[in-house]
Amino acid sequence: MLEVEGVSYRHTRQPWLFRNLSLSIAPGEIVGLYGKSGSGKTTLAQVIANYLKPEEGIVKVNEKKVKSTGPNPVQLVWQHPEKAINPRWKMKNVLAEAGNVDPRIFDALGIAPSWMTRYPSELSGGELQRFCVARALAPNTEYLIADEMTTMLDAITQAQIWYTILQLAKKRAIGVLVISHDEQLLERICDRVIDFNQLH
Ligand SMILES: Nc1ncnc2c1ncn2[C@@H]1O[C@H](COP(=O)(O)OP(=O)(O)OP(=O)(O)O)[C@@H](O)[C@H]1O
Ligand SMILES: [Mg+2]
Repeated sequence: MLEVEGVSYRHTRQPWLFRNLSLSIAPGEIVGLYGKSGSGKTTLAQVIANYLKPEEGIVKVNEKKVKSTGPNPVQLVWQHPEKAINPRWKMKNVLAEAGNVDPRIFDALGIAPSWMTRYPSELSGGELQRFCVARALAPNTEYLIADEMTTMLDAITQAQIWYTILQLAKKRAIGVLVISHDEQLLERICDRVIDFNQLH
């Protein structure tokens, strides 16, 4: 179980973005999250994935606080893959850092073997995003936070990525938080959908 308990966050010298926010995701559960632009969804995603420290509250996976060292069981995929990948590393090195990603995931996501020896700048945004998804699906991953993950992709690539994730979520009981403005997408793939404003 992923449990977010009473977390509060504000950026330096800014008002609270959210206070006493709680939410939980069960293994294998697909939860949708929508809300106004600028309301704090990406910030919450960063708190859940341990990129930002909440001022109050705690994030737990299987009853334990997530450690800052070692592989993170909570993986975040961002809207802009170019911001998430070291531009000086070839793709095979980007992936090696994540541990042994099952090669079948590369096939399912349509990652061509020849892309492995390229640098991030030599791939399209959609191609690069598939690597971010593959990297996030490393063997230790228990929860995936998808923050506008497929917003910039065409419909076919979107469908391919979501199909792969949903299959794997079922097989490995990975819980997924889908943050999106695309209500149709949320209705289609999620077990339940929540309004960010009703969480805090
Ligand atoms: N480092 C920062 N310092 C100060 N304010 C910030 C910082 N990062 C984000 N913000 C502000 O925090 C608020 C919440 O941003 P956030 O990105 O979490 O919103 P969001 O709900 O994801 O929006 P969107 O739907 O447009 O993606 C925004 O007003 C944003 O300008
Ligand atoms: Mg956002």
